[in-house]
Amino acid sequence: MDRDEALVLLGRHVASDSLRTHCIATATILRGLADAFGEDADLWEVIGILHDIDYEAFGGDMNRHGIEGAALLRGEGLPEEVCLAVERHNHLLFAPYSERLDLSLQAADSISGFLIACARVKGGAITDVTPKTVKKKLKEKAFAAGCERERIAAVNSLMEAGEFYEIAIASLAARKDELGLR
Ligand SMILES: [Fe+2]
Repeated sequence: MDRDEALVLLGRHVASDSLRTHCIATATILRGLADAFGEDADLWEVIGILHDIDYEAFGGDMNRHGIEGAALLRGEGLPEEVCLAVERHNHLLFAPYSERLDLSLQAADSISGFLIACARVKGGAITDVTPKTVKKKLKEKAFAAGCERERIAAVNSLMEAGEFYEIAIASLAARKDELGLR
């Protein structure tokens, strides 16, 4: 399944624009991390797009979120690597993590909204967000309070935090039009 097909599948199960934007942003960052690690960027981006596919149906039941998504994707014939990553991303059921993909998805999932919030402060300009901005804003507990800082920190066993912020910002900037940023 390619990116466009994944977006069509997501659209069949997710009506909310903000949830779709979250999935696209998370996927773009995951793609950037895959590139940095020499992993399969197309595959990781598809995983990011699909990771919350069951959220509208099961997001209110964190004992099923992820598991139901994986079941849906198995029914669609997605590779098991995709299904397992989607299943395991529910940190309430599967943390702590040790695999590179799991850790990367945790960090991408939790920093995507945070970076969009940082861009909003700058009039929507993701290109004006820097790793320094991110470090400063992460320390302000009231800023994007719903963002779980400890899940962003999952990336710390893979790379230096500043490098991760740089990759994540550049990844969002690469798809800024699609994300409603500039
Ligand atoms: Fe998510």
